[in-house]
Amino acid sequence: MNKKSNQKKIYLKSYGCQMNVYDTNQLLNLFESDGYQKTSNIENADLVILNTCHIRDKAVEKVYSDIGRIKKIVASKNNFNKKTKLVVSGCVAQAEGEEIKKRAPIVDFVVGPQSYHKLPKMIKEKDKFLNDAFLQNEKFKNLLFKSSNKVSEFITVQEGCDKFCSFCVVPYTRGSEFSRSVKEILEETKIYTKNGTSEIILLGQNVNAYHGSSIDNKEKDLAYLINKISEIDQIKRIRYMTSHPNDMSDSLINCHATNEKLMPFIHLPIQSGSNEVLKAMNRKHTVEKYIEIINNLRFLRKDIAISSDFIVGFPSEKDKDFDETMQLIEKIKFVIAYSFMYSPRPGTPASNYKQIDISIKKARLNALQSLTKSQQSSYNNSFVNKVAEVLFEKKGRYKNQYIGRSIYNQSVFVENEKNLIGQCRDVLITRSTNFALEGNVFS
Ligand code: SAH
Ligand code: SF4
Ligand code: F3S
Repeated sequence: MNKKSNQKKIYLKSYGCQMNVYDTNQLLNLFESDGYQKTSNIENADLVILNTCHIRDKAVEKVYSDIGRIKKIVASKNNFNKKTKLVVSGCVAQAEGEEIKKRAPIVDFVVGPQSYHKLPKMIKEKDKFLNDAFLQNEKFKNLLFKSSNKVSEFITVQEGCDKFCSFCVVPYTRGSEFSRSVKEILEETKIYTKNGTSEIILLGQNVNAYHGSSIDNKEKDLAYLINKISEIDQIKRIRYMTSHPNDMSDSLINCHATNEKLMPFIHLPIQSGSNEVLKAMNRKHTVEKYIEIINNLRFLRKDIAISSDFIVGFPSEKDKDFDETMQLIEKIKFVIAYSFMYSPRPGTPASNYKQIDISIKKARLNALQSLTKSQQSSYNNSFVNKVAEVLFEKKGRYKNQYIGRSIYNQSVFVENEKNLIGQCRDVLITRSTNFALEGNVFS
């Protein structure tokens, strides 16, 4: 009866992007099959895994401060050295490797994002402290895809990056571009649809660089994959992220016009509205090229919602360059945007360039965010008194509250007596906020 209390417990924390969320779930699957049970209480954990992000300095500092906190929590239970194992996985693991031990001696194992399938063995056999090999192909063959009964599931279809933007650590932490086979992805999708999943979000650092694998006998692209997945009846919605302007093929743009299951939302980061800054960033495309892609998308699917990332305060960004970014935002009208102050990353070319004063960075970030926030809020406001089709995913914080997403990826909150999870329903929008919509379902 009390078998569960003897079970080993695992605590996992995911930092950074959705691909890390996916990896954290895969780590859980691996350890569950090894007899571990998930806990949300570090004090009870036999194994703590921090699946980390290296994209900006703040993300890394958060990991080390969490390690300090975990050390105290577990030491106060006086069991840390006896049994709790602490693992750092993910992009900090890949970037800093052995260095982690110097800064945080309490860490027992370090494993990179392309070799984490080796972790159960590393722990069992205590044979190795670090594995940072790039084993993409081997990794996916060793993962155990299990359904978590979610309405919407992430599937990583592409990993890594060959683009080497001068500010970015990803090519170093995730390795070179790699695509999984169509067959493997369809099999994984079917595991999820068996348990009620109706939306798939295809993930990749450059998801539209997806090109299938050698077992797919002919070169396949992301549009091909999307069309294949949409043949599965249970799948009602497909999304993908993050895409790069240079990989926006005609077939993918056309897919937005021809495939009804592909949602009219695209996250297409431009980073800056200045051609000079784009050049210094090594983005290898111009502002004009970006606008042309948006025009082509809007020509075929006029309601398509566009989102972007921006970096402000990149070395060499002048007032004039920043103004051009603001003008671009005015012109495109993003439904949502994520913006960051440039953070110099060790080992990347731009970290050696002459840096910009922090006060300038802060002022630019504030100005940019107030513009993108006002665009987001007026976009959301334009939905009030209109009907939106919403796929409900989960319960909210309040009794009878359900949360879903519109086709344009906005969160929609409703109150309803009957369970709505898994249903696609028409909702009359009654109110909008900066970040979300509220409304009532038609009965
Ligand atoms: N592959 C995607 C981006 C992945 S990283 C693309 O090319 O668009 C996610 C976002 O983090 C980037 O779009 C960028 O806006 C931000 N970012 C990456 N490196 C950064 C750095 N050194 N400082 C600040 N923001 C950064
Ligand atoms: Fe980083 Fe650039 Fe690659 Fe995006 S395209 S992951 S920003 S190097
Ligand atoms: Fe961070 Fe690595 Fe993702 S650096 S953003 S966790 S690819």
